Amino acid sequence: MDFFEVALTQRSIRRFKPDPVPDEVLWKVLDTAIRAPSSGNSQPWIWLVVRDAGKRQAIGQEVLRRMEASGGLERMRQLAAREQDPSNRRIWTSAANFRTDMAQAPVFIIPCLYTPGVPAANQRTLNGGSSIFGAVQNLMLAARAEGLGTSLTGANDDILRAELHLPEDAVPTCLIPLGYPDGERFGPTTRKPIDTVTYWDDWGAAKKQG
Ligand SMILES: Cc1cc2nc3c(=O)[nH]c(=O)nc-3n(C[C@H](O)[C@H](O)[C@H](O)COP(=O)(O)O)c2cc1C
Repeated sequence: MDFFEVALTQRSIRRFKPDPVPDEVLWKVLDTAIRAPSSGNSQPWIWLVVRDAGKRQAIGQEVLRRMEASGGLERMRQLAAREQDPSNRRIWTSAANFRTDMAQAPVFIIPCLYTPGVPAANQRTLNGGSSIFGAVQNLMLAARAEGLGTSLTGANDDILRAELHLPEDAVPTCLIPLGYPDGERFGPTTRKPIDTVTYWDDWGAAKKQG
């Protein structure tokens, strides 16, 4: 598949078939992720791949319990109901639905910032983040090229720490469910037009695309 087709159709997928993802495909996707640049080629990461159904369920149930307790799930549903734009409505609806059954994704990938000996608090910087998010995007693009859906989602640190035995100096940056899409299609994505978010030569100097 052409690079631009991959990049322009990669979007959040949150409903997955139960089909397992072969090891060689997972290795290929992960090996593409780690080709990304990082500050000083520090490669400050560990990629936690969770296939164990019991662990996925335990994480999913605890995330859901907290979202229900905090009213977060209800807020997502209200946003979906209020949203006029059909594409944004789809996003909120599917985000809420995903939270009710996260473990349907056959794989969770948790990219962790990890620089041994450096406390987690010191890694939670913009610099730390910018050293892993290129790799995270590589991972999602490689997955798309393999016909796999992903979605970058937030996850509670302490839940992941407890379930997956993360050391103190590892920082889980997000939780990416991964699997073959079930009923959801890849792109196109909905974004602001490029000429409304671009300035040329000077701040504020917009020009029309063409
Ligand atoms: C930093 C970040 C956090 C996100 N957190 C969540 C999340 O917690 N749950 C979720 O379902 N999607 C999450 N997303 C996905 C966005 O909702 C999604 O990328 C955006 O709405 C655009 O939709 P698209 O990817 O389908 O084009 C997150 C994306 C980013 C970059």
